Amino acid sequence: MNEQLFDTSLSVLQQIKIPHFTSRGIQLFVKRDDLIHTEVSGNKWRKLKYNLLQVEQGNFAGLFTFGGAYSNHLLATASAANKADVPVIGFVRGEELNENSNTTLKRCSDLGMKLIFLSREEYGMRNDKQYIDELKLEFTNYYFVPEGGGNYLGMVGCQEIWKEITLQIDDVFVAQGTTATSCGLLLGKPVNTTLHVVPALKGFDAYAEMFSKLKWFLFQDELASDLLEDVKIYTDYHFGGYGKYTNELLTFIQEIYKEHQLPLDPIYTAKAFYAMIQELEDVSFNKKTVLFVHTGGIQVCEEIEKKNKIKLFTN
Ligand SMILES: Cc1ncc(COP(=O)(O)O)c(C=O)c1O
Repeated sequence: MNEQLFDTSLSVLQQIKIPHFTSRGIQLFVKRDDLIHTEVSGNKWRKLKYNLLQVEQGNFAGLFTFGGAYSNHLLATASAANKADVPVIGFVRGEELNENSNTTLKRCSDLGMKLIFLSREEYGMRNDKQYIDELKLEFTNYYFVPEGGGNYLGMVGCQEIWKEITLQIDDVFVAQGTTATSCGLLLGKPVNTTLHVVPALKGFDAYAEMFSKLKWFLFQDELASDLLEDVKIYTDYHFGGYGKYTNELLTFIQEIYKEHQLPLDPIYTAKAFYAMIQELEDVSFNKKTVLFVHTGGIQVCEEIEKKNKIKLFTN
């Protein structure tokens, strides 16, 4: 497989000029990973790259993964596996669904992903070792990628974002789900950079989840907690929780697009960007160079625009 299956050079660094911040010496940049590819966008190629290489180098017959009916991860996996010519199975939450239930599932199926629909009960076992081992017996020599691509190799891929940043960054903001992207950024960051994470989930214990993921790399509790001292977690910007959003957030997305031609999605990136704009009010950010990592997710906007009868991205 070609390591450069998707061209990350498309992910430019966009400077955002907000006079109110510029006058305080704050320089704000966005790493536009959403531009990598329409389907394998944002953190998706970062998380999938080494997993797909593993399938090839380990001589696996294919891979299987999990996702909900509108999963960004499922679609990205179907698209990347199609390009890498890797057979792929997607286990979907909801036995009542089929490949024509929505555009995401239809596209996954058209890309060659074999979709298997599970009851919510069975789907609930997606992280149980015994359940995964049974699937590995049933689908012989298939490689397992967890929901969201949040495994060790996913985190290795996310560390690579730093290779493409030549500026010295004081503070980096990112949206959080499984924590794989934020942990990857944390492991690869320069020593004096602070990582600011914004969970999209309500009541999520980001610290505990990050701690356990960091231990895959660092082994010792002490090293993981030392590294977590460079992290600030903002738990109050979930806008109701995962998959939820408010009219205020939708208006914010419209305004940011109008001002800066920066598309954000209401599930992850708009929440994190909104949090960053609020937090940058603090004087401790004066004269700082700040980076926002755009983790993609824009493809959900079409569905959200239809549902709310609005346009998010107009000039
Ligand atoms: C658009 C978008 N942003 C952010 C995240 C959160 O990333 P992670 O699950 O690695 O924390 C996700 C989930 O993968 C996502 O789809």
